[in-house]
Amino acid sequence: MLDLKAFEKQVIPVMYDKADTADLKEIIRRQKKKLGEKLVLLAHHYQKDDIVEWADEVGDSLELAKKISKYKQAETIIFCGVHFMAETADMLAGKTQKVLLPDMSAGCSMADMASVAQLQVAWKKLEALFDGTTLPVTYINSTAEVKAFVGKHGGVTVTSGNAKEVVSWAFTKKRRILFLPDQHLGRNTAYLLGIPLKQMAMWHPATKDLSYEENLQDIRVILWEGFCSVHQQFTPLQVERMRKLFPDIKVIVHPECRRDVVDLADDFGSTAKLIKLAYKAKSGERLAIGTDNNLVERLQKEMAKKEVFIHFLNPMACACLTMNRIDLAHLAWILDELVAGRVQNQITVLDETTKWAKLTLDKMLELTK
Ligand code: 13P
Ligand code: SF4
Repeated sequence: MLDLKAFEKQVIPVMYDKADTADLKEIIRRQKKKLGEKLVLLAHHYQKDDIVEWADEVGDSLELAKKISKYKQAETIIFCGVHFMAETADMLAGKTQKVLLPDMSAGCSMADMASVAQLQVAWKKLEALFDGTTLPVTYINSTAEVKAFVGKHGGVTVTSGNAKEVVSWAFTKKRRILFLPDQHLGRNTAYLLGIPLKQMAMWHPATKDLSYEENLQDIRVILWEGFCSVHQQFTPLQVERMRKLFPDIKVIVHPECRRDVVDLADDFGSTAKLIKLAYKAKSGERLAIGTDNNLVERLQKEMAKKEVFIHFLNPMACACLTMNRIDLAHLAWILDELVAGRVQNQITVLDETTKWAKLTLDKMLELTK
């Protein structure tokens, strides 16, 4: 049966929902101060400004994964991001550290597009077709269970910040890769490495079949039919429209965007790279950015001081619904509870899953020190 709870924000005591912004901020300030070094608050770049304001560290998925080991003194990590990020933090954190997610309904629709049961079916078929010549590579935007399956089969995790290096390594191990769950990051990365589109096949988890253009045995990359609902909104037409409006504009996009959009853009990269590109722009320059709204809006404000003009590649774009589920009310609530000795929303990955999944994370971190 469909779990309708997944479509709603986590219910917390009504006093938090009704509280003024100023009161919520006062709770957060007070409780953070009380917890001191025992607490570290990490936030992804896609979080809202009023959440980022409280973060000890802000980063993209790769940067945040790398930051975990810096905070050995913290008993609790509050992760303002989405579920797979908190799972990753739990696997990389020390045994006694607790990782909390302020709203349990902050998932990722892309990560949900690949279950371990679907992966088992795909793997059986691909192994039969390609006879042990495939390495599984999973985007960090996947469940811990999927990472564990990949770890058991010698594979690795990638993020958008290191996909080129990690996928290059994967090709030194096996002739082919299965890249999941984001078809776009997989396609864009493989293309960047010189693999032609005709050597990329697509695995369709719903129908359990493989589609490809030419010769089966020439296939080097099997893409999983998954996508990010935020980044798949960007189209070539939007790029063309921007260029018509502002002929000197630079278009930069995230590699979770479609191949034809990345192809038309001036540059592409992880959220951290997009930020770097924006900061590098000189006064008077104009950029259109294809990524989540919260980040583009923040850059717009920050860059205005430098007279760099930032545009939304798609002014009608929808933000990431699940990232936005983390709000001041949930953050204030979870901190109040923590100070009162009640640990809420702890994300705990089973030891057996961690054992295998961590192999893929350690390999990734080793490749991108
Ligand atoms: P990065 O943090 O790797 O840029 O990925 C963006 C994203 O969609 C996170 O969910
Ligand atoms: Fe998932 Fe896309 Fe949201 Fe990132 S932006 S959490 S990939 S749905």
